[in-house]
Amino acid sequence: MDKLLVKGGRRLDGTVQISGAKNAALPILAGCLLVDGTVRVSNVPTALRDVATTNQLLAHMGAGVTVGNDGTVVVDAASVSECVAPYELVKTMRASILVLGPLLARFGSADVSLPGGCAIGERPVDLHVSGMRQFGADVRIENGFIKARVNGRLKGARIVLETVTVTGTENLMMAACLADGTTVIENAAREPEVTDLACFLNALGARIVGAGTDTLLIEGVARLHGGSYAVVPDRIEAGTYLVAGAITQGRVRVNGVVPGHLDAILAKLRDAGALISVGEDWVECDMRGSRPKAVDIRTAPYPAFPTDMQAQFAALNTVADGVSTIVETIFENRFMHMDEMRRLGAEIRIEGNTAIIRGVTGLTAAPVMATDLRASASLVLAALVADGWTRIERIYHIDRGYERIESKLQGLGAEIRRES
Ligand code: EPZ
Repeated sequence: MDKLLVKGGRRLDGTVQISGAKNAALPILAGCLLVDGTVRVSNVPTALRDVATTNQLLAHMGAGVTVGNDGTVVVDAASVSECVAPYELVKTMRASILVLGPLLARFGSADVSLPGGCAIGERPVDLHVSGMRQFGADVRIENGFIKARVNGRLKGARIVLETVTVTGTENLMMAACLADGTTVIENAAREPEVTDLACFLNALGARIVGAGTDTLLIEGVARLHGGSYAVVPDRIEAGTYLVAGAITQGRVRVNGVVPGHLDAILAKLRDAGALISVGEDWVECDMRGSRPKAVDIRTAPYPAFPTDMQAQFAALNTVADGVSTIVETIFENRFMHMDEMRRLGAEIRIEGNTAIIRGVTGLTAAPVMATDLRASASLVLAALVADGWTRIERIYHIDRGYERIESKLQGLGAEIRRES
């Protein structure tokens, strides 16, 4: 298994190009199943394992999938014949659940392996299932599968989500596109990746209004047509590299971003003492050689502070000046990186869903293990300032969400290499 070796102590200084958003590409690629034709998706982070898994899943169903070397994926779902998402693929990527809505809406049938939990939490999909039932589908859970059927078309419905769910909103929005009649989704997720999916679907002839707000209104249509679409930049990847600049007291500019998607992250970097500059499609974080100040974090649905940036700010706080608290309100077990950071010398106490971190003046290198995607990114950040060579194991987690992380960090001046 690959591991990363990182030597701490280098102050990062430079510019990095941000890739397309994983969490927009996955629902958009699944959404291609709604089209009886060809769709060309660009700015796809095709090097990511989760994107490869999604492409594999689409091909398994009989879709034609062509992956270019320029970040484009062309999907021809006219030939889809197998409405099944098998356990072998779903167990490696929970987001496979995103094929449920498209398959049910277009073919009236979907057998999707029930995604298990994962390291960060139980990750139920009850809201996905109950929403499909409200569209008139018969949905059973049998032998570890979600088996959904509907005679004819789904019927538009008014759905009130009891919890803000990103992929739940996406699944139901996709199903509603081809339903007979109007659908209203209340308490919908407002994440930029949800909005990107809505813009993609509208480019294919869907009629969705309200994206970016907590109320979506979808007018069902008989069919969607093919087209082309470019995936939105990855705000979490961008935030991760900005924190890399902050934690090393250096200067990092992220290029090819939507600055407005980073507001909550930039506010916290400013609180930490960074000088933040914002351009048309770039953002720069300059710590000017100073030690970051401790910042309190509380995660919540967009536009509040994203849970996917919680681990990265935990790393920053371990070497910040002062004591900070981090409250994780979205997932019940998203503090596993804290144990690994303690191995590097961090001073962290956990009380329920709150972590109290006392910043130390320095960390020391040690072997550590990645447990989930964003936790592994936070260990890389901590290793950038730990004295000595830190070895990070199980970095297959990191390859799920960060394209070429070692080359991007090397481009910023980090001493980091991959070891097979
Ligand atoms: C999406 O996961 C993202 N993944 C996650 O990113 C992200 O952390 C999460 O949203 C929150 O922003 C993708 O978009 C592929 P949720 P998702 O449904 O949709 C509860 C990463 O690092 N819930 O918004 O699975 C759930 O337990 C990944 O890139 C139900 O109770 O998250 C959680 O407490 C990690 N029933 C809360 O809602 C349901 O049916 C939010 O989860 C669905 C969710």
